[in-house]
Amino acid sequence: MWAWIEDQLNGQLLVKVSPLSVGFALLSSAVLAIVPLLTLAKSISRSRALRQSPPGCRRLGLPFNQSNLSDEFDRKYAQGTSPDSKDEDGLPSWRVKALFTYPIKSCRGIELEHADVVSTGLQYDRQFAFAQHTPKGWVCRTLRNAGFERMALIHAEIWIPDPSSPSYETRRPEIRSGGVMIVSYPRVTPSGLLGTIIRTGVMLGLVASRESFTVPLQPETPAEIEIDSPSQPSYPLKPVTIWKDSPLAHDYAIHLPPSLHKYLGFHHPSSSPLTLFRAHSTHPRNIYRNAPRKAQLGFQPQTAFADAYPIHLTLSSHHDVAARCASSLPHLSIRRFRANIIIEGPGPFAEDQWKKVRIGNTDVYAACRTIRCLLPNVDPDTGVRHASQPDRTLKGYRRVDEGDLTNACLGLQLVPGVREWVVRVGDEVRVLETGVHRYIKMLAPGEKVEGV
Ligand SMILES: *[C@@H]1O[C@H](CO)[C@@H](O)[C@H](O)[C@H]1NC(C)=O
Ligand SMILES: *[C@@H]1O[C@H](CO)[C@@H](O)[C@H](O)[C@H]1NC(C)=O
Repeated sequence: MWAWIEDQLNGQLLVKVSPLSVGFALLSSAVLAIVPLLTLAKSISRSRALRQSPPGCRRLGLPFNQSNLSDEFDRKYAQGTSPDSKDEDGLPSWRVKALFTYPIKSCRGIELEHADVVSTGLQYDRQFAFAQHTPKGWVCRTLRNAGFERMALIHAEIWIPDPSSPSYETRRPEIRSGGVMIVSYPRVTPSGLLGTIIRTGVMLGLVASRESFTVPLQPETPAEIEIDSPSQPSYPLKPVTIWKDSPLAHDYAIHLPPSLHKYLGFHHPSSSPLTLFRAHSTHPRNIYRNAPRKAQLGFQPQTAFADAYPIHLTLSSHHDVAARCASSLPHLSIRRFRANIIIEGPGPFAEDQWKKVRIGNTDVYAACRTIRCLLPNVDPDTGVRHASQPDRTLKGYRRVDEGDLTNACLGLQLVPGVREWVVRVGDEVRVLETGVHRYIKMLAPGEKVEGV
């Protein structure tokens, strides 16, 4: 019987109960109550652990209940304003409205008030990606792939070293790895009585509704692993296919708990063909198509697991799209489009002709328009895929780029004119050059376009 109880708990007892008291409980035939109680206790202690911050670190991003997009549906954003005007608070009326970084491709983003921009885009953006093993090897999976809509509800928190924290110590693994990422996802409950009890616990707030695991932001180098702790995990480098590239990336499979495989629909975690990859700093993907050339910038534009380059979007363009699909999707959030930089002020689709803009003090090139795929059909708050919208609406009137007349465009792909800079909410946006955009379709690996 005891073995049976242990089995129910996957052998992970966090609460010590003496066999005697269990025997007593069995005698009073309350075993069906005890199993769920132990599970509850286990879950409660897990939820406590969840609330504990990684030592020596602070969480990146706005407080959970704050967003610069809280008024995104305000009708005032449907029109443009004059570029040189100021609002009642003295802020330039064309400005950065909100900033997001998406540490795991296709999973929920982190809203920021300011962001460091590094050579691969906003810091931490798309440095991780889930991949599935196929006959062609490891292939990146996104919200576009059938069955992977649930990735929308996977959240990533970035915790970075904070020397002002009382628990900060340079030798801590959390500090040596440059911080950690906590990945959380909705709890999968078993069927039957146990599931009912756990769901009740979640409803009563006794059990966390989400499960989580923690991974290092930077995999340690093999030398450090050998010297300090031979038992440290190492992360083999493997090729992972993303579009037509196959960069080498670190396999973080050892960190994925069975419950995550189950959450993503793989019922036999031991044979699940799923993993999480961490982009390798010296194997980034160079961007050639549409981007300004190295000769012009002085450096080669790169990305980790982003499709091409960080995207930006204006609120008024989004309002225009949202109004046209309002009958199918009454509250189409701009977050569906997963832009890094959201701008307020310019009128709908003014950005279609931008070639160079200044954000704050930094000049930024608009490489091309953003070609839209089916990804925005997934609601970021529920993970539910709409059968056709907003894709159908977009295809109905936004096939505007001569270079690709089969797909809709919304927003621009940006390449900064400097290697590193900082972008802040409230930064003024000025258009320096306008011109014609013509999209260049995907190239074969290694193939380069000149003179774009
Ligand atoms: C957000 O939460 C904090 C702390 O829980 C609270 O003080 C603050 O008023 C909340 N802000 C909003 C906008 O709800
Ligand atoms: C953006 O949001 C943060 C956090 O709520 C707030 O402190 C800041 O004032 C907002 N910025 C603007 C320009 O609205």
